[in-house]
Amino acid sequence: MRLAGKSALITGSARGIGRAFAEAYAREGATVAIADINIEAARATAVEIGAAAYAVELDVTDQTSIDAAVRSVEEKTDGLDILINNAALFDAAPIVEIPRAGYERLFSVNVAGTLFMLQAAARSMIRRGKGGRIINMASQAGRRGEPLVAVYCATKAAVISITQSAGLDLIKHRINVNAIAPGVVDGEHWDGVDALFAKYENRPRGEKKKLVGEGVPYGRMGRAEDLTGMAVFLASSEAEYIVAQTYNVDGGQWMS
Ligand SMILES: NC(=O)c1ccc[n+]([C@@H]2O[C@H](COP(=O)([O-])OP(=O)(O)OC[C@H]3O[C@@H](n4cnc5c(N)ncnc54)[C@H](O)[C@@H]3O)[C@@H](O)[C@H]2O)c1
Repeated sequence: MRLAGKSALITGSARGIGRAFAEAYAREGATVAIADINIEAARATAVEIGAAAYAVELDVTDQTSIDAAVRSVEEKTDGLDILINNAALFDAAPIVEIPRAGYERLFSVNVAGTLFMLQAAARSMIRRGKGGRIINMASQAGRRGEPLVAVYCATKAAVISITQSAGLDLIKHRINVNAIAPGVVDGEHWDGVDALFAKYENRPRGEKKKLVGEGVPYGRMGRAEDLTGMAVFLASSEAEYIVAQTYNVDGGQWMS
């Protein structure tokens, strides 16, 4: 029960990695807001997790929605202790085909969504005066560009940079900002990635997934559960002295 009595908000936690984080946080004693643009899925996830979880409608591209989500956590619990900035979109296209609207959509969710969610959470934590923890979801895609993935890679590089700046700015308030950089994690997200690579690399569906799994030094793709240990640790009292870092949890894909 390393998070007993803590109140967490996890963006994009109706499914995938965010949902696994919510389950792990609930197991560790936290109360968790399942905050997602897909409110029906968020409600279903909250019911499945049980009394420790509740659903909150959130669109991280909309400031009114961000402020309302943070307010609802403040009203429902003693105040916000932990934010995980997990919601994000993926897309792929050759450089010469990237549409401006697609670029703007990804930056709006992955970068502006992360920054302004972090800002709203930090304001709430500062008002309360008890510090806090903010964990941003980066990616191995933020460590190095990829031919078909320019925009997503750039958004995740921006998340690593925002983690550094916010981490340095907010530690004086005892708010620790850090990030997790997963490698390739199986699930609905990667089903979509696989479909895009099938299109652009002219492969049968499922082949890209198989290849990337074989390429991981650990020997398989990641599972959402592989990331929960780091997410619990970074939110726990054991991580008090960790500031502005991005941790690779990727089966050995990347070293930095
Ligand atoms: N799956 C991977 O291989 C992988 C690898 C590296 C990093 N990541 C990162 O981990 C995080 C979670 O990934 P995942 O695989 O679970 O993704 P996912 O696509 O399965 O889940 C994303 C969730 O975010 C929600 N969402 C989308 N737009 C939103 C918005 N505007 N406001 C609020 N919620 C919104 C979706 O409804 C969904 O529930 C993301 O930041 C992703 O970039 C994933």
